[in-house]
Amino acid sequence: MKVLIIGASGLVGSHLLRSAQRRNWEVMGTYHNFPQPGLIPLRLTDAVGVRQLIREYEPDTIFLPAFRSHVDYCEQHPEETYQVNVAGSVNVAIASGEVGAKLVFYSSDYVFNGRNGPYRETDKPDPICVYGRQKLAVEEKIGRLLADFLILRITVVYGNEAQGKNFVSRLVTTLAEGQVLKVPQDQIGSPTLVDDIAEASCRLVAANANGIFHVVGPERMSRYQFALEVAKVFGLSGEKILPVTTAELAQAALRPLEAGMIGDKLVQTLNWNLRGVAAGLAYLKQTRAGEYVSI
Ligand SMILES: NC(=O)c1ccc[n+]([C@@H]2O[C@H](COP(=O)([O-])OP(=O)(O)OC[C@H]3O[C@@H](n4cnc5c(N)ncnc54)[C@H](OP(=O)(O)O)[C@@H]3O)[C@@H](O)[C@H]2O)c1
Repeated sequence: MKVLIIGASGLVGSHLLRSAQRRNWEVMGTYHNFPQPGLIPLRLTDAVGVRQLIREYEPDTIFLPAFRSHVDYCEQHPEETYQVNVAGSVNVAIASGEVGAKLVFYSSDYVFNGRNGPYRETDKPDPICVYGRQKLAVEEKIGRLLADFLILRITVVYGNEAQGKNFVSRLVTTLAEGQVLKVPQDQIGSPTLVDDIAEASCRLVAANANGIFHVVGPERMSRYQFALEVAKVFGLSGEKILPVTTAELAQAALRPLEAGMIGDKLVQTLNWNLRGVAAGLAYLKQTRAGEYVSI
């Protein structure tokens, strides 16, 4: 199997790299602003460069975790982020079709309005912010352009990461420094270990699966509950975690509150379970600051 990972310097992409290498797949990966050994630079908005890379490398599968994913930045810069997120992803989808590669796109539970989660793959999307609308736009365009694709909706992803941007990394660092962190108690989601997302992605590709899958851990909880679990596992005091409402945070973009997803379709397809929060965090603690693979 020959795979291309566009966005291999990010949280999901770096773990996809590791999972693909473990399978002895031939792998090429790209970065944008964060160079990593062995990765090559690529901008999603460079339609010519995207097409050239894909035509020359001729992958069987293209994983596309690259996205400008800062939710509030998307809300404040809808045009700029549309060019990267929607037009850029379409550049990849067109080139995937040209070489007959399967495209694996990473979407989110932000395609839903968050009034009545958790959501199944059959539930109707109704995004309430720019980021969610961009994700849905890409999902729809991929569905129209390609026959062979996977849309993997993920949420509240945590794990080891060189850039240390994800919720758990920031929480552990902030608490270890003795600082206060305000965490919403009304945002409900499904925390998911990134290693399991990467493993599920490769298993779905190996099984030649197609279509939309919710790739989530088995538990659903508020960000505040999750933060307390993190503090417990990492031996940090939870006293400095302040529960707040999302409204109090006054963020630019609306958040789907009663969100999270149901991953039954994935579990049944693969006959394989993703880790729950206790097992995922224990694994993370054990492997934190572990090595990052390069190619
Ligand atoms: N993390 C979550 O909790 C979560 C939840 C739901 C959905 N998702 C989705 O899952 C996917 C992966 O998330 P993640 O957490 O791994 O994101 P991430 O850590 O921010 O990684 C994003 C990747 O995209 C690359 N990238 C950004 N802008 C680019 C551009 N203009 N051209 C080419 N590459 C670009 C980044 O490169 P550099 O770092 O080198 O600049 C990085 O490799 C995203 O689509 C995200 O929206 C994530």
